[in-house]
Amino acid sequence: MPLVTTKEMFEKAYKGGYAIGAFNVNNMEIIQGITEAAKEEKSPVILQVSAGARKYAKHVYLLKLVEAAAIDTDVPMALHLDHGESFEICKDCIDGGFTSVMIDGSKHSFEENIELTRKVVEYAHARGVVVEGELGKLAGIEDAVNVSDADAQFTNPAEVEEFVTRTGVDSLAIAIGTSHGAFKFKPGQKPQLRFDILEEIQKRLPNFPIVLHGASSVPQEFVKMVNQYGGKMPDAIGIPEEMLREAAKMAVCKINIDSDLRLGMTASVRKHLIENPDHFDPRQYLADGRTALREMVRHKIRDVLGSSNTI
Ligand code: G3H
Ligand code: 13P
Ligand code: ZN
Repeated sequence: MPLVTTKEMFEKAYKGGYAIGAFNVNNMEIIQGITEAAKEEKSPVILQVSAGARKYAKHVYLLKLVEAAAIDTDVPMALHLDHGESFEICKDCIDGGFTSVMIDGSKHSFEENIELTRKVVEYAHARGVVVEGELGKLAGIEDAVNVSDADAQFTNPAEVEEFVTRTGVDSLAIAIGTSHGAFKFKPGQKPQLRFDILEEIQKRLPNFPIVLHGASSVPQEFVKMVNQYGGKMPDAIGIPEEMLREAAKMAVCKINIDSDLRLGMTASVRKHLIENPDHFDPRQYLADGRTALREMVRHKIRDVLGSSNTI
């Protein structure tokens, strides 16, 4: 089936009290692992591409691989730009076959964020593409996303109606305590999310899809596995899965997960290479990486997001 936008998936997710997983993709094995899991779970899925991923793999490779996955699995899937920083990158993706883009104007002032987001919405909607905006700042360090803890800032519920009305965005990413990367909380720190802010936003924006970034849970068994097979990962703490399940029952319709996939894939590739020191065919260890990733995504869809059996 052709790629779809997130419109229908979010409408159904909101009503059904579940969320759609948005997983970051960089290569064929990742795309196959995620989409095979979505097919097995009979769930729609969002495949998202960051600026860094687009630079690494090239736009056309990722587009064609995702189109191939849609043909192969027949699962409703959206191809989404993650953390678009400028009008130009959003335009490139809209013109280049993406069905959804995020314009992340969260580092700008409220007015500048509105202006930039509105410009992207106008361009996207005229071409049948949906847009995610962001209000509030998440902490964390990734390739293209780099906000220190001190600069992180929760979303102000008093601003959301004006932002959504003036920009025309289709969904809104908010900051309620999640952050990017594998090190979300310090050892000994108790993970907490500001559900009170989410509730207030939900009241002010009835039936409007909310997006949660930085939602990896950093399963400890994979951290241990990385270290057991020669890695050196310091203590890493993520968002407890029960909290994500709660958020998915509320207005959160899209949950972004990248770090957990990296962790699962790396752990299994490390294990494979340590256990099979004579292997040098990439298909041998990448197949293990793909299987681990598929099982992780199945678990997220079934046990955390709740979107199994919705297609
Ligand atoms: O939120 C950021 C995503 O995890 C993408 O990370 O910029 O390193 O590709 P990246
Ligand atoms: P994690 O780093 O928690 O996986 O978050 C990914 C993300 O928000 C991508 O936009
Ligand atoms: Zn993000």
